[in-house]
Amino acid sequence: MLRFRTGLRHATLALACVTLRAGWCAAAPAAADSPIEPGFDYHSYANVDQFRVTHIEMDLQVDLDNKVIDGVVALELKRLDPRATQVVLDTKGLTINDVSQKATDVLGATAKSQTVWVSRPFHMDKPDPILGSALVIDLPPSHKAVESIKIEYLTVPTAAALQWLTPKQTAGRHKGFLYTQSEPIGARSWIPLQDTPQVRATYTATIHTDRGLRAVMSAENDPKHKANGEYSFVMPQPIPSYLIALAVGDIEFKETGPRTGVYAEKSMVGAAAKEFADTESMVATGEKLFGPYRWGRYDILVLPPSFPVGGMENPRLSFITPTVIAGDKSLVSVIAHELAHSWSGNLVTNATWRDVWLNEGFTVFLESRITAAVYGEQRESMEAVLGLQALRENLGKLEPKDQVLAIDLRDRDPDLAFSEVPYQKGRLFLRFLESKFGRERFDAFLHAYFDHFAFKSITTEQFNEFLQTNLLDRFPGIVTRDQVLTWEHAPGIPADAVLPTSSAFEPVDQARAAWLAGTLAAKKLGLDWVTQQWLYFLNNLPAALQPKQLAELDDARGLTRSQNAEIEQSWLKIAIRNNYQPSYPRLEEYLKSIGRRKLIVPLYAELMKTPSGTAFAKRVYAKARPGYHPDTVAALDPMVDPDAADAADTPLR
Ligand code: BES
Ligand code: ZN
Repeated sequence: MLRFRTGLRHATLALACVTLRAGWCAAAPAAADSPIEPGFDYHSYANVDQFRVTHIEMDLQVDLDNKVIDGVVALELKRLDPRATQVVLDTKGLTINDVSQKATDVLGATAKSQTVWVSRPFHMDKPDPILGSALVIDLPPSHKAVESIKIEYLTVPTAAALQWLTPKQTAGRHKGFLYTQSEPIGARSWIPLQDTPQVRATYTATIHTDRGLRAVMSAENDPKHKANGEYSFVMPQPIPSYLIALAVGDIEFKETGPRTGVYAEKSMVGAAAKEFADTESMVATGEKLFGPYRWGRYDILVLPPSFPVGGMENPRLSFITPTVIAGDKSLVSVIAHELAHSWSGNLVTNATWRDVWLNEGFTVFLESRITAAVYGEQRESMEAVLGLQALRENLGKLEPKDQVLAIDLRDRDPDLAFSEVPYQKGRLFLRFLESKFGRERFDAFLHAYFDHFAFKSITTEQFNEFLQTNLLDRFPGIVTRDQVLTWEHAPGIPADAVLPTSSAFEPVDQARAAWLAGTLAAKKLGLDWVTQQWLYFLNNLPAALQPKQLAELDDARGLTRSQNAEIEQSWLKIAIRNNYQPSYPRLEEYLKSIGRRKLIVPLYAELMKTPSGTAFAKRVYAKARPGYHPDTVAALDPMVDPDAADAADTPLR
């Protein structure tokens, strides 16, 4: 770990010195001791002060047999510094075959001109295990305001953002599947670009793949396009690199409304359309509360179960884990969440990963507003309490410096930013502001915030300035600047937080106490409970239970066979903690079939606490690992298989 940290620091400083801030470097002390520079992206090599990518044109050959993307990408760059003669891009594991620059060839004095591409010298800097390598391209001195460069390249089969599934790893079992998961810094493993959220670009793409497979992207998709292996896409709104997304597979489409629908493998598409039938009304609710939906359509792509996150807010096309399809819409707040990113995150974006709470905290807040409007206040209050409990548990494991909203990620993997803190503490901060200023004023503030910063990437400090002018100063004497700074920079939950409660959990607390006291039989328990009540019941049981109690609960309520992935996970944690063997076959199946980190990392962590659990975990992991996305492997290797671990920190989510 030490080796990696040192390497990363050098890489970061080297970048700052050589390419960006010649004057700044000499005076700069080691990263850890120096004050953080808001807005400086410590996780990108790109010289964004000199050039900025404004448009990306991709031509990608997706080869599922060899697990390789053979790509040509043309980047249009705006020149900010007239003296600049180098473009520095982010790459990770890419083989660069050629780099050329667009030039205008003037043919003779009668000035007929044509576009030609001229090869340019380039080199790759030493790779860093997290950041990858800087691709440094030399350009001749020029005052042109716009440059275009073209890069021909290949990805590696182990590319960090890509998961390649064999036909057997899909539901249909006949055709392979590829999907990307690029947030936070995975895009550089399949496209050479300025991989920083402060640069926004429009894109077009042509995808070539096998006939019979369909490609979809975070762009305008045409569900009626024939599955002929050739697809083209346009993303007309400027987006940050981490939102460029692609999936290729045996994918079908079903409409759920005039501007919403689902893409999924054939065997899933019907169930998905039913589960997500309320998407259209979620979009309408979002528009009513936060302003126009500016992305045209909102579709959902259901991924195979190895998808490493619950959902990913790829614009126009959220990528979603199939584990939210419970059959009763009980887990669809994940959809409300990813949709809410259409405002917080995709429209107004964090400028660096230190500011990720602007994406995730706002989104959890917006998600709760959508959930309340579509499914009622009670459902929302239960989810808020469960979120608070998750935050408290997480805070117990985090060092104080990682309990703050504006987190210092220098020298660290930006994946580490995604703890419960930006999500749940971020939400509590906005809830605090809402309660102080009142819902009406706060809603108006949010609406204005999205309008003001639409299609911009901003820092915590820019948010603060806007907050000061539009809320704190406009309604003086309610919230101080110090209170705001405490929320953003002090560890833990501030004393002025407004904590959620839910009356729907009172009967659950009573029933739990009665069952534990032996005065209520398990078969009388929770006959009318919804998913969130079961989760609250299970998550708040004492750590140690008697074998008899576990068997009674399981026999009466069928927990080992639950088809709800969240309830099942809560139960399996209890089973592991108490070594309840009847659940272990199901546990093995669960770990082998699901790759969503939030669900399986805690199960492995629980197993690793005992010698017999460790043996079980290692045996199952050896079988399951080939089916996991690289992000899930990166989270689990250090814990379960340290030999395979690449000396990286463990992501938190
Ligand atoms: N943007 C995240 C997905 C993500 C998480 C990407 C961590 C990279 C690292 C997405 O919007 C998200 O937050 N998903 C949640 C679900 C949500 C309902 C809290 C998840 O995956 O758990
Ligand atoms: Zn999110």
